[in-house]
Amino acid sequence: MKISLIAAVGKNNEIGKGNDLVFKLPADMKHFKDITTGHIVIMGRKTYESIGKPLPNRKNIIVTRDKKYKSYGVDVVYSLEEAIKLAKINPNPSLALPLSGAGENTEIFIIGGGEIYKEVMKFVDKIYLTEINATDKKADTFFPEIIPVVFGETKREHHKKDEKNLYDYDFVEYERF
Ligand SMILES: NC(=O)c1ccc[n+]([C@@H]2O[C@H](COP(=O)([O-])OP(=O)(O)OC[C@H]3O[C@@H](n4cnc5c(N)ncnc54)[C@H](OP(=O)(O)O)[C@@H]3O)[C@@H](O)[C@H]2O)c1
Repeated sequence: MKISLIAAVGKNNEIGKGNDLVFKLPADMKHFKDITTGHIVIMGRKTYESIGKPLPNRKNIIVTRDKKYKSYGVDVVYSLEEAIKLAKINPNPSLALPLSGAGENTEIFIIGGGEIYKEVMKFVDKIYLTEINATDKKADTFFPEIIPVVFGETKREHHKKDEKNLYDYDFVEYERF
């Protein structure tokens, strides 16, 4: 199973501010939903609490070091290794709605936040990055460097800002060489 990462970054690699997103583009929210629906999402406890509920139609795995942490509708694990192992062992998510195509083609998505992204860069196969043409000096969480000898850009789709999306943005894909 492929292990991918998905994130949206500003020009200075900003991803978070006050445990929330920095930039909220409806087009990026849709892109995230389209790409991850039917698959497995792994996230840090802070990102999960920022979202506030399990993401529907996806198996949600939450990573925490708190052995007492519990939340309804998600799987809680205590390391990233455990998260990947759980995702691989049980590709058929225990969801109210059946997933189409769960199995061999199921992708594991690491969806943040900053602490988790830093830890997974050494083993992810693919990065789906929304590059937003904006900056925010108040950001407090950042995306790690994508090392050019490790990952190559394989796709880029440019979009102009519009009445709903306040900044230009690119949907970019990077793959491990
Ligand atoms: N722009 C984007 O694409 C995007 C995506 C996601 C999130 N975000 C933003 O990123 C920010 C949150 O990121 P963050 O770095 O503060 O937190 P985070 O990565 O979401 O979560 C960190 C927490 O995950 C747990 N954790 C991390 N590594 C672990 C490990 N190896 N083993 C077990 N548990 C581990 C710990 O939980 P415990 O403290 O419970 O032990 C840790 O405090 C928010 O602002 C959010 O909105 C942005």
